Amino acid sequence: MANTVKYGIIGVGMMGREHLINLHHLRDQGVAVVSIADPHIPSQQLALNLAQSFHWPLKVFSEHKELLDSGLCDVVIVSTPNMTHYQILMDIINHSKPHHVLVEKPLCTTVTDCKKVVDAARKRPDILVQVGLEYRYMPPVAKLIEIVKGGTLGQVKMVAIREHRFPFLIKVNNWNRFNVNSGGTLVEKCCHFFDLMRLFADANPVRVMASGAIDVNHKDEIYDGKVPDIIDNAYVIIEFENGSRGMLDLCMFAEGSKNEQEISVVGDIGKGEAFVPESIVRLGTRVAGRDGVQTLKAEDSRIKYDGLHHGSSYLEHLHFLSAIRAKGGQAPAVDLQDGLISVAIGVAAQISIEKARFVTIKEVMDDHNSK
Ligand SMILES: NC(=O)c1ccc[n+]([C@@H]2O[C@H](COP(=O)([O-])OP(=O)(O)OC[C@H]3O[C@@H](n4cnc5c(N)ncnc54)[C@H](O)[C@@H]3O)[C@@H](O)[C@H]2O)c1
Repeated sequence: MANTVKYGIIGVGMMGREHLINLHHLRDQGVAVVSIADPHIPSQQLALNLAQSFHWPLKVFSEHKELLDSGLCDVVIVSTPNMTHYQILMDIINHSKPHHVLVEKPLCTTVTDCKKVVDAARKRPDILVQVGLEYRYMPPVAKLIEIVKGGTLGQVKMVAIREHRFPFLIKVNNWNRFNVNSGGTLVEKCCHFFDLMRLFADANPVRVMASGAIDVNHKDEIYDGKVPDIIDNAYVIIEFENGSRGMLDLCMFAEGSKNEQEISVVGDIGKGEAFVPESIVRLGTRVAGRDGVQTLKAEDSRIKYDGLHHGSSYLEHLHFLSAIRAKGGQAPAVDLQDGLISVAIGVAAQISIEKARFVTIKEVMDDHNSK
């Protein structure tokens, strides 16, 4: 097809292959993956096997610059380890051929690097950059966002997100075991939740207080003589500019949970809750009380592939494709500013744990020498 949008995937580990499968489910919309770049032969092979089963011939590179120089792709997905996002993004943004980019979360591991990417991208209005904060698209979360934006709950005052789940999975070369590679647990995975809190609160964060530790997981693991330093549980409180408050309750040794995420948003009129993976939303008001609480099943009939994240990656691609096809007429649904602020909250939380005090967002945004 002449107007096929050609994708390249940089990093074809677990998430890169997940993108490959999602894009295959979008093939009737005129998309094709034509190239991959990954230095790890087993990852290349697994991606090649998948592409073969989809009848997609792939050009394989071990280096992202070769993929960019090949000129084969219109769009690139960056799904490499977090600490590599910065350099890869800068190489994409500074490349003479424009490539639209979907970069996995977190945007980068430090605020300084995120800001440099934001500045560089400003000079390339011909490139769309979307950040992979895909929890926004999970059907129960999307439904709760719709309810909150519709004003049913009134002025949002409190947003509590509980993530109780299994420990971090094993990754290629164990990159996710160390803060220096991942940005720290509160950046690496919790940027999703800080992004959601900011959406629900409809305001930017002002300051963050956190308490957390490495109490149960990874204590008996050693890589190159080093024990992992990533925390496995935390409480984080975030204050927003408009007086709303957010709270994260993270536990990564909670396999015995019915839901992985439980989100509660309370306004001055009512309360909404979302449960993942039960895919349920609850909605009540102060006036109607407990008897008036409704339970709604959240579904999205557009999803053709649930995958690892309850259909959110599929919807993320659908939105990004629509922005690409709009040729500048539509901004990416999750932009670089969203990516930057979600990292800034995570960094502030990590510093708060180290220093045992409130950390302001201004402090982390202004400090070019800190994380
Ligand atoms: N959206 C989500 O909820 C979600 C879920 C999981 C992972 N992620 C993100 O996806 C990214 C990848 O995570 P993963 O779980 O797939 O890790 P992974 O270890 O399974 O895969 C990473 C792959 O990137 C390759 N790689 C490393 N350096 C590279 C480079 N410079 N150029 C090209 N390839 C390179 C590795 O060889 C490996 O194959 C991370 O940023 C992670 O945070 C997001």
